[in-house]
Amino acid sequence: MDLGIPVVRPTTDMSTRPDTPHLVDRFGRIARDLRVSLIDKCNLRCTYCMPAEGLPWLKRSELLDTGEMIRLIRIAVEELGVTNVRFTGGEPLLRQDLVDIISATSELPSKPKTSLTTNGINLGRYADALKRGGLNRVNVSLDTLDRDTFRELTRRDRFSDVLEGLEAAKAAGLEPVKVNTVLMRGLNGHEACDLLRYCVEHDYQLRFIEQMPLDPQHGWDRGQMITAEEILEMLGAEFDLTPHTAERGSAPAERWLVDGGPATVGVIGSVTRPFCATCDRTRLTADGQLRSCLFSTTETDLRGPMRAGAGDEEIMRLWQETMWAKKAGHGMDTEGFAQPSRPMSAIGG
Ligand code: 5AD
Ligand code: SF4
Repeated sequence: MDLGIPVVRPTTDMSTRPDTPHLVDRFGRIARDLRVSLIDKCNLRCTYCMPAEGLPWLKRSELLDTGEMIRLIRIAVEELGVTNVRFTGGEPLLRQDLVDIISATSELPSKPKTSLTTNGINLGRYADALKRGGLNRVNVSLDTLDRDTFRELTRRDRFSDVLEGLEAAKAAGLEPVKVNTVLMRGLNGHEACDLLRYCVEHDYQLRFIEQMPLDPQHGWDRGQMITAEEILEMLGAEFDLTPHTAERGSAPAERWLVDGGPATVGVIGSVTRPFCATCDRTRLTADGQLRSCLFSTTETDLRGPMRAGAGDEEIMRLWQETMWAKKAGHGMDTEGFAQPSRPMSAIGG
């Protein structure tokens, strides 16, 4: 009987979802890029990411084990249409089974592209093994070229390890080696040109990332943030930047040719130039929670069902539902934006 009561459908109503195994959402996006955080721990304490004493780390039993990680990655790649897998942390090189997980991923029949986001500290030791394991590329975080600033910013005196790590990655053929930099006023804010000169000389692809409100101390201040526009202005004083014509697609970085090329520089305006409309990401945390966005305020538990014996079909359905419910954007630059309760180190960058 129709009582004339309007039916308010929950936004996650699956009935309008197209009949596809792929990770589609209600805004026409398809997630093909899986970001896996392998561990929440880190061997640095970057001030914008962690307090000096660290964070309450996940217990070992809470982390997905090697088999569980590989199973979820296999389902994403072989069943759900994921074509790119990026490993992040915390610091993923602290995970002992990293090479095993990477090898298992690169050996999947669909041959996904693999990449690793690392602080570079242990890359000198592992770059060759990672390459042999089938890893395609690395992104190394480096915010400064000054040893003292590095120590102040990361609270550890490991600057030279990172430079060695970068060299090792290049020597191992993990190319292109990308460098991620977050500029902060009064700290490394004046180093934009120095960093670009260094990266051009060493054949690293530099990308600046606007600082996002993801620190556990909740110290982010929109007014303090160095914007994409400012970065371009600083670089423009020393370099001739021309827009790189290559298709941007779902890539968050806007790229420029440096002094006519072939070197390029990227700027990721996560806050002031959001790229949510073309986002193709899906995220898995080290403890087996799915997130449709870095800034999601909800998560879907896969570890529980998996440990309770869920089959692949069940995992696929949960993943598809989570992505169907993905929001249009993060709203970081709007009033009333709510920072996610997990810090970046526990979500994965
Ligand atoms: N805003 C922007 N980038 C961040 N990163 C970590 N925290 C933030 C933040 N709040 C960067 C790191 C690293 C990558 C994983 O994300 O510097 O390059
Ligand atoms: Fe994608 Fe969310 Fe990042 Fe936007 S903020 S790019 S939707 S993960």
